Amino acid sequence: MRIYQSEDYKSMSRRAANIISAQVIYKPDCVLGLATGGTPVGTYKQLVDWYKEGDLSFAEVRSVNLDEYLGLSPHHEQSYRYFMQSNLFDHIDIKPENTHVLNGLAKDPQAECAAYNKLIQDLGGIDLQLLGMGHNGHIAFNEPGDDFGLETHLVTLTDRTIDANTRFFDSRDDVPRQALSMGIKNIMNARRILMVVSGEDKAEAVLKAFAGPVTKEVPASVLQLHPDVTLVADKAALSKLVEAGVPVCG
Ligand code: F6R
Repeated sequence: MRIYQSEDYKSMSRRAANIISAQVIYKPDCVLGLATGGTPVGTYKQLVDWYKEGDLSFAEVRSVNLDEYLGLSPHHEQSYRYFMQSNLFDHIDIKPENTHVLNGLAKDPQAECAAYNKLIQDLGGIDLQLLGMGHNGHIAFNEPGDDFGLETHLVTLTDRTIDANTRFFDSRDDVPRQALSMGIKNIMNARRILMVVSGEDKAEAVLKAFAGPVTKEVPASVLQLHPDVTLVADKAALSKLVEAGVPVCG
C-alpha cells in the first residue's frame, strides 16, 4: 500500500490524475473503473485539461463505473451517468460505446447486475479502479455490514448515505432509496486500486480503514488485503493516520 499526502485538494487531484494518465499511457486500451461523488471531480478536471493540451488520449480506453441510483434515467441531472458525461466523457475522446454505467432504469435489476459482472469479465477485468470513500467507510454503495463476497448487486441506501447525498438533490425525499453497485468482490478483483480522499471530515474514516482491523463494519478496510492499493489524500484527510504514526509519502 502506498499513501501519498498532498497539501490540498488541488494537488491531491493532480496526483491522482497523474496516476490515471500513467495507466492510460502504459496501456492505451486499459479498463478504468470510475467513481462519482465530489472527491474525483478535480481529478477528472485535470484529466480533461491534459487531454485538451494534447498530452493524453482516451481513444482506446474502456470504462466501467462503480454504481448508479435505481430509478434515475441517464438524463437525470443527479444520475451517475449524467455526472460522468458532464465531468469527463463529454470532454475527452473516449468512445461512447466504450463507457459503461449501470442502467438505473433496468426493469430487472438482478439481471442488470448479472450482466454487469459478465461485462467486467468480458472486458478482461479492471486495470485501475478509482474509488472515493464515504464517512462510514463505504466504497461504491457497499455499506457497513455488507458481505465482502458480493459482486454487483441491488443496494438499499443507509440513512447516513441518504443524508450525505441530499446535498446534490432538491430535498432528502428526492434521494433514491436504492442503487445498483459493484460489490467488494468486483473492486478487490481490480488489478490496481486508487483511492482519493479529501477533508478533515474523512480523517476518522481514513484512520479506521487503513490502520484499523479489517472488518465488514468499515468496508474500505478490506483494501488492506489488496496487493496494489494507492491512497492519495490531502493533509486534512490524513491527519489522524499521521497522528497514529502511519508513514506516508510526501
Ligand atoms: C461514487 C461512490 C461513493 C463515493 C463516496 C464518497 O461512485 O461510489 O462510494 O465515492 O460516497 O463520496 P464523496 O466523494 O462525494 O465524498
